[in-house]
Amino acid sequence: MKRMLSGIKPTGQLTLGNYIGAIKQFIEYQDEYEMLVFIADLHALTLPIDAKELRKNTKDLISVYLACGLNPEKVTLFKQSDVHEHAELGYIMACNSYMGELSRMTQYKDKTARISDHGSIPTGIFIYPTLMAADILLYDADYIPVGLDQKQHVELTRDLAIRFNNHYSETFIVPEPITPKTGAKISSLSNPEKKMSKSESEKGTLYLLEDLAITRKKIMSAVTDCDNEIKYDMEHKPGISNLLTILSSLTGKSIDELVQEYQGAGYGTFKKAVADVVCNELAELQRKVKEIQESNIIENILEEGAKKASYLARKKLSKVYRKIGLQ
Ligand code: TYM
Repeated sequence: MKRMLSGIKPTGQLTLGNYIGAIKQFIEYQDEYEMLVFIADLHALTLPIDAKELRKNTKDLISVYLACGLNPEKVTLFKQSDVHEHAELGYIMACNSYMGELSRMTQYKDKTARISDHGSIPTGIFIYPTLMAADILLYDADYIPVGLDQKQHVELTRDLAIRFNNHYSETFIVPEPITPKTGAKISSLSNPEKKMSKSESEKGTLYLLEDLAITRKKIMSAVTDCDNEIKYDMEHKPGISNLLTILSSLTGKSIDELVQEYQGAGYGTFKKAVADVVCNELAELQRKVKEIQESNIIENILEEGAKKASYLARKKLSKVYRKIGLQ
């Protein structure tokens, strides 16, 4: 059985972008692949984060994974920091990468552009992709389901794996990124040219665990053009196209079908339909999250997951140590 792996970092609150771009794929593939899904908590340290907030985000993330339907009987669910091999292989990957290739990463450029006016750039942001490569290569993962913004990091992982294999002989599986056909890049509702993200504007971002009255309000005031025609055209109608994408991902209907269905309906009616679907889905999710957080299953699941992941990671790191002469 081919192996699949992915993770989300517990910074800020989870967004609808995380759900559509990543989590829905995990659920879809969990029966087809041997799957590992983790909480990328070491990655959350690349920008300053309060310890209490990190703990809360971690609990929310594992609860959301479970509430969305990831089955811990099938999927290895774990916390990155519980498996120390990630940091160790991360260091080795950093030693096998070049400053040039890391500084070309789009996310690094975007994040540092935002910081550089008023402060220093944390080294963690720079070497972030080498840790991500370690996350993937430790487990011989064949496929990596991610949203579009993370594809470049998986491509770098491929380069690092190939470089290592060429230098030290065949050691790592070269992974392939998988992005969803619809919803690989959900845009901000207030600025549809930009990605919806945890760090983008509050108004433009739908959070999975927020008050649904606020969710509805954000959708109803989503930025659109003014010709009142429901049509998919990312270039000229990014706002409406984004809402069509969200609706298509959540209902399973194709964009063409939705365009037909809402022909002549007007933006108000269309937005209300999007708000109904999003709010129904999130209401159910929030109900399950609450149930999970009130139970005491989380610790056990993470403990079991860490055991399974550690077993695989230990074997791989030991092989790497032998190849490079540390063992
Ligand atoms: P993170 O935490 O920023 O995002 C988690 C996942 O959500 C996807 N995503 C989106 N997809 C569509 N539209 C959006 N607006 C949107 N926003 C976020 C991301 O593409 C991602 O798939 N570096 C990773 C975490 C990570 C990882 C890994 C992933 C660490 N190690 C190994 C895969 C394999 C990150 O920061 O994702």
